[in-house]
Amino acid sequence: MRGPVDVLLTLAARTTSHSSTLTPDQLSSSINSANLNATSAPFYPSPWMNGQGEWSAAYAKAKDFVSQLTLLEKVNLTTGVGWEGEQCVGQAGSIPRLGLRSMCMQDAPVGVRSTDYNSVFSSGQTVAATFDRGLFYARGHAMGAEHKAKGVTVQLGPVAGPLGRAPEGGRNWEGFSPDPYLTGVAIAETIKGTQDAGVIACAKHYIGNEQEHFRQVPEAIGYGYDIDEALSSNIDDVTMHELYLWPFADAVRAGLGSIMCSYNQVNNSYACQNSKLLNNLLKDELGFQGFVMSDWQAQHTGAASAVAGLDMSMPGDTLFNSGISYWGANLTLAVLNGTVPEYRLDDMALRIMSAYFKVGLTLDEPPINFDSWTLDTYGPLHASVGSNVQQVNWHVDVRGDHGALIRNIGARATVLLKNVNNTLPLSRPKFVAVIGEDAGPNLQGPNGCADRGCDDGTLGMAWGSGSANFPYLVTPDSALQAQALADGTRYESILDNYATPQIKALVSQTDATTIVFVNADSGEGFVNVDGNEGDRQNLTLWHSGDELVKNVSKLCSNTIVVIHSTGPTILTGWHDSPNITAILWAGVPGQESGNSITDILYGKVNPAARTPFTWGPTRESYGTDILYTPNNGRDAPQDNFSEGVFIDYRNFDRQNITPIYEFGYGLSYTTFSYSNLTITNAHAGHYTPTTGMTEQASTFGNHSTNLNDYLFPKNLTRIEQYIYPYLSSTDGRAASHDPSYGQPASKFLPDNAISDSPQPKLAASGAPGGNPQLWDVMYTVTATITNTGARNGEEVPQLYISLGGPNDPKHILRGFERLSIDTGKTATFTADLLRRDLSNWDPVKQDWAITSYPKTVYVGSSSRNLPLARTLE
Ligand SMILES: *[C@@H]1O[C@H](CO)[C@@H](O)[C@H](O)[C@H]1NC(C)=O
Ligand SMILES: *[C@@H]1O[C@H](CO)[C@@H](O)[C@H](O)[C@H]1NC(C)=O
Ligand SMILES: *[C@@H]1O[C@H](CO)[C@@H](O)[C@H](O)[C@H]1NC(C)=O
Ligand SMILES: *[C@@H]1O[C@H](CO)[C@@H](O)[C@H](O)[C@H]1NC(C)=O
Ligand SMILES: *[C@@H]1O[C@H](CO)[C@@H](O)[C@H](O)[C@H]1NC(C)=O
Ligand SMILES: *[C@@H]1O[C@H](CO)[C@@H](O)[C@H](O)[C@H]1NC(C)=O
Ligand SMILES: *[C@@H]1O[C@H](CO)[C@@H](O)[C@H](O)[C@H]1NC(C)=O
Ligand SMILES: *[C@@H]1O[C@H](CO)[C@@H](O)[C@H](O)[C@H]1NC(C)=O
Ligand SMILES: *[C@@H]1O[C@H](CO)[C@@H](O)[C@H](O)[C@H]1NC(C)=O
Ligand SMILES: *[C@@H]1O[C@H](CO)[C@@H](O)[C@H](O)[C@H]1NC(C)=O
Repeated sequence: MRGPVDVLLTLAARTTSHSSTLTPDQLSSSINSANLNATSAPFYPSPWMNGQGEWSAAYAKAKDFVSQLTLLEKVNLTTGVGWEGEQCVGQAGSIPRLGLRSMCMQDAPVGVRSTDYNSVFSSGQTVAATFDRGLFYARGHAMGAEHKAKGVTVQLGPVAGPLGRAPEGGRNWEGFSPDPYLTGVAIAETIKGTQDAGVIACAKHYIGNEQEHFRQVPEAIGYGYDIDEALSSNIDDVTMHELYLWPFADAVRAGLGSIMCSYNQVNNSYACQNSKLLNNLLKDELGFQGFVMSDWQAQHTGAASAVAGLDMSMPGDTLFNSGISYWGANLTLAVLNGTVPEYRLDDMALRIMSAYFKVGLTLDEPPINFDSWTLDTYGPLHASVGSNVQQVNWHVDVRGDHGALIRNIGARATVLLKNVNNTLPLSRPKFVAVIGEDAGPNLQGPNGCADRGCDDGTLGMAWGSGSANFPYLVTPDSALQAQALADGTRYESILDNYATPQIKALVSQTDATTIVFVNADSGEGFVNVDGNEGDRQNLTLWHSGDELVKNVSKLCSNTIVVIHSTGPTILTGWHDSPNITAILWAGVPGQESGNSITDILYGKVNPAARTPFTWGPTRESYGTDILYTPNNGRDAPQDNFSEGVFIDYRNFDRQNITPIYEFGYGLSYTTFSYSNLTITNAHAGHYTPTTGMTEQASTFGNHSTNLNDYLFPKNLTRIEQYIYPYLSSTDGRAASHDPSYGQPASKFLPDNAISDSPQPKLAASGAPGGNPQLWDVMYTVTATITNTGARNGEEVPQLYISLGGPNDPKHILRGFERLSIDTGKTATFTADLLRRDLSNWDPVKQDWAITSYPKTVYVGSSSRNLPLARTLE
């Protein structure tokens, strides 16, 4: 951690560089506000949706539906029924009167969790390495189709938080890349795919959720940390816009139906009740039309979170199985007693139903056919209390032919980092020796560890709620052996890293082509694997992997290394050994792992993937790390993002540190040349900030104010611990069980929190994603790429731009395309530069602006190999 002085300087520097119009008073006030215990400015009222952009048809349907609802029915839509209350990992209340069954929220980012006959896809980080829009979409669509066929309403992914600020971050593998542009493209295509398959996507975790340590108080206490509040990620306005919010803007523009607010605080205000994050940035500036749901137990208040912009409480109870809720009956009361305005509840319901209709869901969806809490056919419908035993699993096989897609993604995501003298591809080698536990099975089965909370056998998936059950796992050992048998190759594998004498004896034999498999794992904070509380405690390989590679390469002059990991590892000490003839990063590839790597090693697929993060020479070279120790007494640990936008390659470029393999790097079995950079000015015209006022807030339908009408229905059987919208008493205080009941809103809610008057529109707003002019094409860039080698292949030309300011990164990714080019042929790389791509966030104007600094465009094959360059006119 850096101290508060650094924070002051960094924030001040960023502020000056981006705002020509700053007066000395404004400058000093922005410096003063950037202290260690950062605060978040209130932003109220919560924007009411209006069906802008592509949402108008869904909004019209939702308005019609919500207008028919009673107050209790609306509350039911907003509040989960409690942890393990129904079959899915989270379920909202239903509306039986109108035939709407309970919505099912289910994990998510690599496949349908906690069930059977589902596929396991590559991680987000792995597919990011393909740099292939078509594969981003195809993976999203296939996963969406599997969720849909199980009866899921909201698939709890994809992930852009963590973005990957620190390479140790436990859940980085669930997201895509620390580069916001790549993550933005990947999350948008994934969302389109998922929602085209008829389920609502849920982009998570919003925002600043960059580490597992201290994200939740009960979890931290469980690990023995003595803290009372969750971590605060302190992020300045420029860094928020240019880095962490960037991919979420792409997600919203792609039509995102829901978003999950995160466990952590931002500037010492919990993400699920931070009005600046939810009301200002997300709903107003980005024009988000869908709904915000809390991460599980990330809600900390009732009325306050409602007016700050939360729309759905998950899983509905305050703490798992507490039987009480900040919403449910409390929300019913809060609307009846005027604390939460009715328009806000109506807006929650409208947002939920608009997302529902937008993805094509109807009022007669088939029932949920699986159960998160058991794989048995029969079990309790309400697992929380073990009641209503009945059939809960229909074991529906939803995999289709997705295995072929998963194999293809695994191969197309494998990054060839080193390949000396055409070691690869292999062609009928005489003798293959495969070494390493990471090539083989988990002896307890592919699903042997709950939530994949162990690192036994090959790493096909990392751990936590982002896991799913494997339908099978093709190990590298089994796929490589099958290939060897087909080729008549001699084949031996040793799957124990510590069988040192046997390994030495095998790999020192003449003609050995040795392939060493190693890995490094991480996951979600609720599972501790080998002392890693979600986040990795180091960047070295697990199971003595580095030592294993060194041992083998000392004896074998043809050592090929395959790494499965959730991010970079430190290759210093062995990557440059002349005996290490090839290195590949295969990510976390999912169920077809062995087939995918075999396709690459044998050249059935010519590699073209690019590393979606930097491989630094030391841990320190990244300039960012996890906060592993509370630094603020029992108060919220303070994580100052003082590096600003300088994470991953932007840091290496700024500090002039040579990485081992840079962001965007990856080899092929053929070669390509780059020529003929052209830049065409599209003459897009000037940017006009959005102005004017919104409509006044509206309410839909009427409701009775007689508390008798809200009592628990006599003909409904109460399920223990279940969260309902009903009141237990006509006395508000008694029904709320809240000793502080009766405080007027003005006493505890901020000014304007319940105002329904028209509000000024923000300059940077205007449509889902932000001011639509940010997507105007300013320039079109082309380059000619020629396959100069002897094999057909694919290439990923990348466009970087230098924005030119003294505090801007050297250059940042702003375009890429994966092209298939046959040997001797050329192809044209084309990338549109949008207004947004050329802009910086101006924290004084509170809008995007193109600075007057000269801007240079670069095109090449990685962030450090950019043969073509030209300054923009
Ligand atoms: C956090 O504080 C910084 C510094 O004052 C400010 O620039 C930023 O907008 C704040 N962000 C939020 C979400 O409150
Ligand atoms: C609220 O949802 C619960 C659970 O699905 C259901 O039993 C109840 O009937 C619903 N209440 C209303 C008013 O629709
Ligand atoms: C209402 O919320 C308060 C906390 O604000 C909680 O103590 C109480 O139990 C809740 N009431 C119900 C009925 O869930
Ligand atoms: C690659 O092959 C060439 C020609 O056979 C040889 O001179 C060179 O030493 C080899 N390089 C390595 C690193 O093995
Ligand atoms: C790094 O962490 C892994 C996994 O816990 C462990 O196996 C390894 O020994 C650690 N490395 C070092 C150098 O401490
Ligand atoms: C590497 O070799 C040394 C020396 O033989 C041995 O002590 C060590 O256990 C080996 N390590 C691995 C992981 O194979
Ligand atoms: C490379 O392997 C050979 C055995 O084939 C060994 O003699 C040599 O020492 C190794 N070189 C290195 C740098 O490990
Ligand atoms: C250069 O690119 C332009 C635009 O794509 C194209 O029209 C022209 O033919 C190219 N020239 C060469 C020599 O490839
Ligand atoms: C309970 O009674 C109400 C009012 O008579 C009726 O509308 C509703 O359908 C009944 N619900 C059940 C679950 O029987
Ligand atoms: C209204 O209800 C909410 C939720 O139970 C409670 O927190 C608040 O104190 C109540 N306010 C009044 C004025 O009764």
